[in-house]
Amino acid sequence: MSEPDSRPGCAVSAALPLPACTAVVGCGRIGSALLRAALRQGLEVLAGVREHRRRRPGVPPEVVQLAPGKAAAAAELVVLAVPPGEPLRQLAEQLEPVLAGKVVLELSNPVMPRGDMPAPRGPWGPSEAELLARRLPRTRVAKALNTVSAKALGRLGSVPSAEWRRPSVPVAVDDPSAQRLVCAWVEALGFEAVPAGPLTHARWLEHLAQLLCHIDAQSGRTGLVGCRILRP
Ligand SMILES: NC(=O)c1ccc[n+]([C@@H]2O[C@H](COP(=O)([O-])OP(=O)(O)OC[C@H]3O[C@@H](n4cnc5c(N)ncnc54)[C@H](OP(=O)(O)O)[C@@H]3O)[C@@H](O)[C@H]2O)c1
Repeated sequence: MSEPDSRPGCAVSAALPLPACTAVVGCGRIGSALLRAALRQGLEVLAGVREHRRRRPGVPPEVVQLAPGKAAAAAELVVLAVPPGEPLRQLAEQLEPVLAGKVVLELSNPVMPRGDMPAPRGPWGPSEAELLARRLPRTRVAKALNTVSAKALGRLGSVPSAEWRRPSVPVAVDDPSAQRLVCAWVEALGFEAVPAGPLTHARWLEHLAQLLCHIDAQSGRTGLVGCRILRP
């Protein structure tokens, strides 16, 4: 097996194979924004919702809404868009049997800063994505998209700034084939996917999201602050 491409800023090939179907489990703010963005791009998506018989506001009518286990079982890529900590732990436990062999994208931010919050101090403990990977040893876990907001997903391609149109999304994951799959999906949504090394780097991504949130708070809470990784 070849090593994941973790060279900082290494461009992702445009011809990466897309997942045949992606399930978004947890359809709150970010989950439903992802469903809408995927639908706009013509991507195959399913919604995984606890109370799946009641159509959840925010889930587009065109998207099939299933119980989390059914949606995850039918997908090649499974995005867990639920709060970190206990909800994520419970969901992982519930879905473990159907997630074996699949790629799971984890996007939570365990701590979001208040305006006056001090910068975190090292050493940093494991990220939510690493904790999830320990609970799902038969699953390839990736961290990405925690650095973009639901609002930003809704505005993709419509903000009148050439730079903003394609924000960078760092992707941290150990497995090379999972990296290709997640990068392909992130690119298809309209972002620039940037391979960001192994899953342990998810710690940095969680801190990057905090920094972006802090900058956003200083900029009047637009919800549109993102990052763009430049390379020569
Ligand atoms: N909002 C953003 O802009 C943003 C951006 C990047 C990352 N994130 C991260 O994404 C995660 C979700 O954030 P959010 O803002 O979307 O939160 P949210 O609006 O509160 O939505 C959370 C969703 O998770 C679902 N959920 C909770 N436990 C579940 C379980 N055991 N099984 C299935 N579904 C479950 C809830 O379902 P019910 O409706 O059934 O309660 C709810 O729909 C957080 O970790 C956050 O840090 C958010």
